[in-house]
Amino acid sequence: MSLEVININKSYDGLKALNNISFKLKKGEIVGFLGPNGAGKSTLMKIITSFINQDSGEVIISSINKDVDTILTKSKIGYLSENNPLYNDMKVVEYLNFISQLYKLKNSKKRILLVSKQIGLEKVMNQEINSLSKGFKQRVGIAAALVHDPEILLLDEPTTGLDPNQLVEIRQLIKEIGKKKIILLSTHIMQEIPKICNRVIVINNGNIVDDKSLNSKEEKIIDFDEYFYSLTK
Ligand SMILES: Nc1ncnc2c1ncn2[C@@H]1O[C@H](COP(=O)(O)OP(=O)(O)OP(=O)(O)O)[C@@H](O)[C@H]1O
Ligand SMILES: [Mg+2]
Repeated sequence: MSLEVININKSYDGLKALNNISFKLKKGEIVGFLGPNGAGKSTLMKIITSFINQDSGEVIISSINKDVDTILTKSKIGYLSENNPLYNDMKVVEYLNFISQLYKLKNSKKRILLVSKQIGLEKVMNQEINSLSKGFKQRVGIAAALVHDPEILLLDEPTTGLDPNQLVEIRQLIKEIGKKKIILLSTHIMQEIPKICNRVIVINNGNIVDDKSLNSKEEKIIDFDEYFYSLTK
């Protein structure tokens, strides 16, 4: 299980959004992907999921080039996109069913049951999505990203707008899930980083400006607001 990003470049109408981005992630890594607005975080996630194409460079998902077998590599990735788009008029169970049909899951009932339990959705399964609180909508988005049991989870700002209790719960959830997967998550909430992540990659103006482990206590106690500011101001 691995995610390898090799020399990725991407421009939009002449504007360079990503400049030679490279890193390799392995199982058990929960990586905070940090950067100011417009740094290129969502662009890279969309490239990894084959939602958009890079101009040059490669993405290798567990030894498979995403451009050689896009369907197979997509099946190995779960993606919660920036604004967590959901079909609001569906019930939670209908939505998760719909997603599992997209992945042609054979064991969909079992997977939906398991994931809804893991994410704490059991009580709202028969509720329409538009009647849920923001935190529960977020959980539905995460459940939908997990239903096909992907190796890699890309979470684009999964904790934005959650109340403190929901924050703690989603944080615990991400840590638990991350033990057996690779998670790349973007956030602007710096306090989140040492609490969830064991590695951090910082991007600014499309360039990686830092990539370091957060395994030791010393690495976790730095002031992340200052750290972020010093690298991206
Ligand atoms: N579809 C698009 N067309 C043109 N430019 C785009 C497009 N999508 C992104 N960009 C530009 O590419 C750059 C990187 O954007 P991106 O959305 O990847 O940033 P981000 O790091 O996710 O920012 P944020 O923290 O605000 O979500 C920005 O300058 C943005 O304006
Ligand atoms: Mg973004």
